[in-house]
Amino acid sequence: EVLSKVEKYLQLFQLSPEMLQEVSARLRKDLLRGLGKHSHHKAPVKMLPTFVRATPDGTEKGDFLALDLGGTNFRVLHVRVEEEAQKVLKMDSQICAIPQEMMLGTGEQLFDHIATCLGDFLESQNLKGKTLPLGFTFSFPCEQLEIDKSILIRWTKGFNCSGVEGKDVVQLLKEAIHRRGDYDIGSVAMVNDTVGTMMSCGYRDQSCEIGMIIGTGTNACYMEEMKNVKRIEGEDGRMCINTEWGGFGDDGSLDDILTEFDVEVDKTSINPGVHIFEKMISGMYLGEIVRLVLVKMTKDKLLFKGQISETLGTPGQFETKFISEIEEPDSGLENAKKILTELGLDWDPVDACVVRLVCDTISSRSARLCAAALATLVNRIRNNRKLDHLKTTVGVDGTVYRKHPTFSSKLQKAVRLLAPQCDITFLVSEDGSGKGAAMVTAVAQRLAHQSR
Ligand code: BG6
Ligand code: GLC
Repeated sequence: EVLSKVEKYLQLFQLSPEMLQEVSARLRKDLLRGLGKHSHHKAPVKMLPTFVRATPDGTEKGDFLALDLGGTNFRVLHVRVEEEAQKVLKMDSQICAIPQEMMLGTGEQLFDHIATCLGDFLESQNLKGKTLPLGFTFSFPCEQLEIDKSILIRWTKGFNCSGVEGKDVVQLLKEAIHRRGDYDIGSVAMVNDTVGTMMSCGYRDQSCEIGMIIGTGTNACYMEEMKNVKRIEGEDGRMCINTEWGGFGDDGSLDDILTEFDVEVDKTSINPGVHIFEKMISGMYLGEIVRLVLVKMTKDKLLFKGQISETLGTPGQFETKFISEIEEPDSGLENAKKILTELGLDWDPVDACVVRLVCDTISSRSARLCAAALATLVNRIRNNRKLDHLKTTVGVDGTVYRKHPTFSSKLQKAVRLLAPQCDITFLVSEDGSGKGAAMVTAVAQRLAHQSR
């Protein structure tokens, strides 16, 4: 009896193949709205032009700095592309912590901190006298006017610094560096992490033309035909579009598949009403969805003899990494028991199994929703090029994709179902997107030289 009640709960999260197809079709329409000249203002999926017009061709070289802000870690990097033919790439990097208060403080504090981290890094690398070009991976939606002019539309995920929305992020960085006055940087290229990921994978595999992140947040970019990018002059060639698919559903288009738990996660987030799709999928929210389900099940006496602990009752205390640990094929049940004990719960073996089932249900829904969105992109590229069959590579990054034991295989299986005419290779990016940001800077320089 308990089990059938549990199953009834979890049914809410199960999306049939038909429903996934429907989700994919809804996103297909939203991509068009976002690309349109006039319709984009109100489009939930923003489809932002990136001014990246080519993926690496392997001839890029040079010496670059990179910043990588917006994922789990803030990193500062020095990237050297030395021998083009061998693709020798050297990298030094450093992680620099951003305290939680700073993520919610003023923009000036945040950018001063970034400038300090970069300054310390240059000092330690003996680079302070040099003026190097810099690739800035900034993983938030930005209206890009040029490769080095990028206006923050809104903060997402855990950030909410005052005085940055509506401003040019390049300008804010430069001002912070000038306030210090002890070093300078050269030309700047702004990239979203999806773009950085696509470009860093593109360096290894030239058919990589999609970048996807399933980490703290979720998003993807892909190479679109210029003639379809109605907001930018020019008909020839392609441009990388940052979809910001996390905002899918912000106009209510996914309301029929939202559960009461999704609604609650959204309501208690720092940005209610925005990034609805992201909140069903990404690492910042998955643990919290599981927690809310467990709490309700306990209240309904389906778990832990009806007794919740203080920790389980506290938002944020069920971490997304627990889901990965509990779903480990071999050690999962053991991990579950350890975690439940640490959460102060009085569990029995059936409880541990139910918790595992809840984790599996929530992470599977996430993987399948991502698959529906990715299927929309590959099908679009295939149609754009009027191909019966498309062979392409997706560069991927993010802790959920990397660390969860079965996420990637579930995602891949569902994409195959939803995009049967596409043959997709998934490539996990090596050491993050900073390298890709350097690549963007390099490609921009190569193109500038060629056009002279
Ligand atoms: C990193 C990239 O590897 O992955 C970042 O360098 C990106 O640019 C991040 O934002 C995404 O994953 P997560 O899980 O850290 O948000
Ligand atoms: C959020 C951001 C987006 C980023 C994604 C993954 O959705 O808005 O720009 O790419 O997280 O980090």
